[in-house]
Amino acid sequence: MLQMPDSKIIYDNHGRPITYLRLAVTDRCNLRCFYCMPEDGVKYLPKSKVLTYEEMLRIVGVMAKLGIQKVRITGGEPFVRQNLMDFMYQLSDIEGINEINITTNGILTGQYIRQMKEIGVRSVNLSLDTLDQKRFFEITRRDEFPKVNETLYRLIDEGFEVKINAVVMDGKNTEDIIPLTELTKNHNVSVRFIEEMPFNGEGLHYPKLEWNLHKILAELRTTYPDLQKLKDAPSSTSYNYQVPGYQGNVGIIAAFSRTFCGTCNRIRLTAQGDLKTCLYDDGVLNLRDLLRDGATDEDLQNQLLVAFSNRPKDGFEAERNRKSIVSESMTTIGG
Ligand code: GTP
Ligand code: 5AD
Ligand code: SF4
Repeated sequence: MLQMPDSKIIYDNHGRPITYLRLAVTDRCNLRCFYCMPEDGVKYLPKSKVLTYEEMLRIVGVMAKLGIQKVRITGGEPFVRQNLMDFMYQLSDIEGINEINITTNGILTGQYIRQMKEIGVRSVNLSLDTLDQKRFFEITRRDEFPKVNETLYRLIDEGFEVKINAVVMDGKNTEDIIPLTELTKNHNVSVRFIEEMPFNGEGLHYPKLEWNLHKILAELRTTYPDLQKLKDAPSSTSYNYQVPGYQGNVGIIAAFSRTFCGTCNRIRLTAQGDLKTCLYDDGVLNLRDLLRDGATDEDLQNQLLVAFSNRPKDGFEAERNRKSIVSESMTTIGG
């Protein structure tokens, strides 16, 4: 049952606090990653269907009153949307929002570093699946490795908490697991190896996911037999480890095996205003339509409360409840 304790945190129907919003500001992207989109891309939304910044600010304002404290800006690639920084400044003024982070592919990111600092962004998650320029091109279908690599080192030098997201793909980049881990030797970064999910516009790439968390961990332990388990933050998506003596750490995100649902504190808002209470659901409510039909803040709040009290217990239940199989591109969901 829903509760609204003094702290104004809402607990879902499985007793999980809902405090973290993943907000997709666009469905557009300047890369074409194999695990996210078919080679010829996906059909982008017409502008009229995408939430305006004003609409997003209003929705986040209502959510903040219901206990959302952390917002992660996602996309598509967030920086391809015009005036993102002005929007983030306004977002940071919303009472109750005490953490704003961003997940980016690093191509346009460098020019916004100063403004991100002014806004108070402390942590940036950078999608980077390989340190090899040729493989980068094969995976992303664009020749942007030098730019992304430069962004990585600038973010580190500027003192951001940097997490590198590397999707592990059979036959594409498994030879990068160790070089990426070696980055943590002299840099205080977190490299997270992510199980590949079928959110790529086409559906499952393999009959069975071979590179799951167990295989990734086994691969790490072969090179680093004394790999140490770290304590994970509450609601962490990653199981974290450290090579003794290394400055940074590595993590494994079991995004496909869905082993962390029991502590899931996340909801999602897609660029077209769909509320998702689980990554694997197909949208429980369209907030854009509600807003454009004249809903009051109280109406929005009530609809959100109903959605929070009907969350699936895990990503498997969410997937079972879908009308169609998982195949939409991550660029429309926001990761
Ligand atoms: P932190 O705020 O740093 O913990 O980031 P995060 O791991 O929540 O976000 P990020 O955008 O860096 O996502 C990394 C990977 O984790 C992506 O592949 C996401 O799709 C996946 N991920 C994030 N949240 C969830 C989730 O709720 N369920 C599943 N299955 N995967 C998720
Ligand atoms: N499977 C796993 N992770 C994915 N991402 C995008 N598509 C997929 C997928 N099919 C990751 C990106 C980005 C994060 C938001 O989601 O690497 O870092
Ligand atoms: Fe949360 Fe769904 Fe992800 Fe599980 S699969 S952690 S329930 S969003």
